[in-house]
Amino acid sequence: MPMPMTMRKRSSPIRWIGTLVPVLLALLPGSSAAGQSLQQADWDDRIRLREAVDLNPDPRIVEVNFEARVATVEIAPGLEVEAWTYNGMIPGPLIRVRVGDRLIVHFTNNLPESSTIHWHGLRIPIEMDGVPGYSQPPVETGESFTYDFVVPDAGIFWYHPHVMSAGQVGFGLYGGFLVEDPAEDETVGVADDLVIVLSDIDLNEQGELASPDTGGSVGMLFGREGNHVLVNGRETPALVARVGAPQRWRLVNAAKSRYFMLDLGEGHAFKKIGGDGGLVEYAEDHEFLVLGAGERADVIVRPTGEPGGELLLRSLLHDRGYGSTEFRDFEDLIAVELADMPPYSGGPLPETSREIQPYDTEGATEVSLRLTVAQDPSDKTFEYGINDVPFWKAQPVLAELGETQIWTVENTTAWSHPLHLHGFFFLVLDENGDPVRPLEWKDTVDIPFEDSVRLAVRFDERPGTWIFHCHILDHAEGGLLSAVHLDIPVSEFKNMLEH
Ligand code: C2O
Ligand code: CU
Repeated sequence: MPMPMTMRKRSSPIRWIGTLVPVLLALLPGSSAAGQSLQQADWDDRIRLREAVDLNPDPRIVEVNFEARVATVEIAPGLEVEAWTYNGMIPGPLIRVRVGDRLIVHFTNNLPESSTIHWHGLRIPIEMDGVPGYSQPPVETGESFTYDFVVPDAGIFWYHPHVMSAGQVGFGLYGGFLVEDPAEDETVGVADDLVIVLSDIDLNEQGELASPDTGGSVGMLFGREGNHVLVNGRETPALVARVGAPQRWRLVNAAKSRYFMLDLGEGHAFKKIGGDGGLVEYAEDHEFLVLGAGERADVIVRPTGEPGGELLLRSLLHDRGYGSTEFRDFEDLIAVELADMPPYSGGPLPETSREIQPYDTEGATEVSLRLTVAQDPSDKTFEYGINDVPFWKAQPVLAELGETQIWTVENTTAWSHPLHLHGFFFLVLDENGDPVRPLEWKDTVDIPFEDSVRLAVRFDERPGTWIFHCHILDHAEGGLLSAVHLDIPVSEFKNMLEH
């Protein structure tokens, strides 16, 4: 019998009906007392993402159909928008797989323009990376493409198109991609978990999608933010939380420009157990949590307060450069209603850890990259660049299979740039060149304005041309994008030619 994806891991087994419950629980791998929900049955009904439907009976193959199409979605009670969607929803269906599973996505493009799907943060072969011109042809209107790969790492990832991405992502094309590691049922042991996709959408006065070019070159320079902030596709959705009971939130910033600086109010911390590329070296409490566009976090929260009361998850003002904090207000993200049930008084939160082996950087190749901006003297338009050249004039960084590089990325501009490298994880380094603790595999890192960041990356055995760019997608399209060309060493190549 094909096992629907939603049955692989139940966050709230008590949602199941009657006598089936004990039987099915017994059948579930890894279910134990520690794996049971502590929440009331409907705690996440108003916020939970819909999941992709697995059509393949093989338990280790997840096979889904994705159709990109224009559809009407409701983003707030009575507020409907004709948006760009995967399978008619914003965000697109949540992909939930286990690490090592094979994923097959039959993608059909029924949008009015070409598109692709990029699997953000997944270390998969270049042919599956979804970047037209570098890894596949664009999927034209009415055409299809099948993505097929083995999922290599556990963690919270996401997906989005890589054609006109500021426009297409801004119109609603993105979704969460959760890769579960069954071992975490024991080590983390928080059954009540939720994928939270943060984004925004820009609507004009008629309530239609605003043009992705508003504000012209200056709009690009700043990075356009949508005027409606969405959490799992809704404005300020609610969830119910039992006082004292831990919840695990996997957060994705899928906004095309916006940073989020999360705050759950007085006395609440986010225990960050994971980041972009799975669990971090050890858990750490954060009073506020900043996520640049494209970044993720895996956190445990424990709501406190009076049953029947309410908390608010908000986004505070984060300074991402000139003009980003003036005349602006906090954003309400989630109304956390405290359940009218006895508080849970379990023990302390789990102290997770993971052994991460940092890259050996001895003899690593140094690469310097400056993030730059220039204004055309004749037409006054702005253009971003890396080392003063926009992507349409850029030469790729060269790398050999197995090579380790240290990148020094200097941001000379007045705006921060969340820099994303396709296909590989890196570690951020401190001033002394040592990896920042707790160690965290990253694929997107904020390069604050007028500041610099060093990172160490190792290119493995997956040759190809892998792009990297600012995840403020207007900036990427405005020039802040380049590529790493990864291949066998030139000497070996010459050898091959001679023989
Ligand atoms: Cu999520 Cu090239 O990006
Ligand atoms: Cu940028």
